[in-house]
Amino acid sequence: MSGSNILFIFTGSIACFKACDAVSRLVQRGHRVRTVATPAALKFIGPATLEGLTGTPVLSDAFTPGAAMEHINLTRWADVVLVCPATANTINSLAAGLAPDLVGALFLAHDRTKPWLVAPAMNPAMWSHPATIAGVEKLRAWGAVFLPVGAGRTACGETGEGRLAEPTAIVAAVEAALARPARRLRVLITSGGTAEPVDGVRVLSNTSTGGTGALIAAHLARCGHEPVLLRAKQAERPAQPCREEIFSSFADLESALTRLLGQERFDAVIHAAAVGDFGVESVIVDGQVCPVGATKLDSGFPPLLRLKQNPKLLDRLRALSPTPLQVVAFKLTRDASAADAQAAVAALLAHADADWVVHNDLAARPDGAGDFPADIYQPDGTVAVHCASRAGLAAALEHLLVTAATG
Ligand SMILES: Cc1cc2nc3c(=O)[nH]c(=O)nc-3n(C[C@H](O)[C@H](O)[C@H](O)COP(=O)(O)O)c2cc1C
Repeated sequence: MSGSNILFIFTGSIACFKACDAVSRLVQRGHRVRTVATPAALKFIGPATLEGLTGTPVLSDAFTPGAAMEHINLTRWADVVLVCPATANTINSLAAGLAPDLVGALFLAHDRTKPWLVAPAMNPAMWSHPATIAGVEKLRAWGAVFLPVGAGRTACGETGEGRLAEPTAIVAAVEAALARPARRLRVLITSGGTAEPVDGVRVLSNTSTGGTGALIAAHLARCGHEPVLLRAKQAERPAQPCREEIFSSFADLESALTRLLGQERFDAVIHAAAVGDFGVESVIVDGQVCPVGATKLDSGFPPLLRLKQNPKLLDRLRALSPTPLQVVAFKLTRDASAADAQAAVAALLAHADADWVVHNDLAARPDGAGDFPADIYQPDGTVAVHCASRAGLAAALEHLLVTAATG
């Protein structure tokens, strides 16, 4: 992977100084980096800095004499393209399919079998503007991979989401995109626990941390796959940047699965979320029925909750996807013997059309967190792989999914 060709596109954000650090790190790791900078970017950093860091002159104008065909030559040369920092203006202009400048021409001429990464940087209001949200969605649907933005104080003094990813994360994302698995898979991973509204401030939830889903997503991203982590709001985030979507209640998770599987093509779903079996059907306080998920109940009257059974999302995953899908299910038991564990997996396989079932037992992790062993069962109810740790589980799943997809 070292010695790859990286086309690094700067656009006009104050975070250009931070992107220079990422360029420097990539060069130090043995990559060849060529830079393109919009005229606005060159107001933040000088051409001498970029030439000094990379050893090659920066390109900015599509009509530079002697470099007029660079929008084609550079796309052929690059193994990966990264827009970093990416302004709201550039994101929205690319999403409109416009090519009034070199960056737009590079985007349209890009060989879409190669990765195109985007590391946004902007003020929180610009990042949450509907135009930017729509632009990001459009570019994602066309295959662009977005690095997560950071939260905190931005250069304009406002606090919120929109900060450029850290240079180490940028380098990791570029190298992950360069990793070439036998087949690059798009995998949807659900993780964390659902929270079922009782009133406007209280929920019924569970103790899932989302750690396993985050770890699997990070591993898949590191191997060069394209994971999408659909995680509970409070669940752990992956150590390796990847696309994340958030859910809270069962209904949120159901509609996110319906949207993602219906609108995008995935090779596999790893359904590691701890989905609540029960939702709140009605809340009765002092004989009066109160609306579910609304207002705040008086703390002086313990409510009577009537629960309803939530349907099994696992059983509906394949039907939601217009293309064939590999399905990985999870079965958690508590203090189960080997025979009990096998019976629990068999009961799940009786209704769920899963290719693999990951089983682990709470007794193996008394504090409910941390590392644990797991078994991966196949549809005939026998163990295909015994994994000594969560890292082993992530590696085994990656291997099984790639083998099945290429087999
Ligand atoms: C001091 C300053 C800082 C800016 N920082 C950002 C930024 O971080 N993100 C952004 O989207 N736009 C930012 N802008 C606005 C862009 O530079 C402006 O929209 C420009 O037209 C972007 O052009 P480009 O996308 O072709 O590089 C900033 C402008 C100024 C004057």
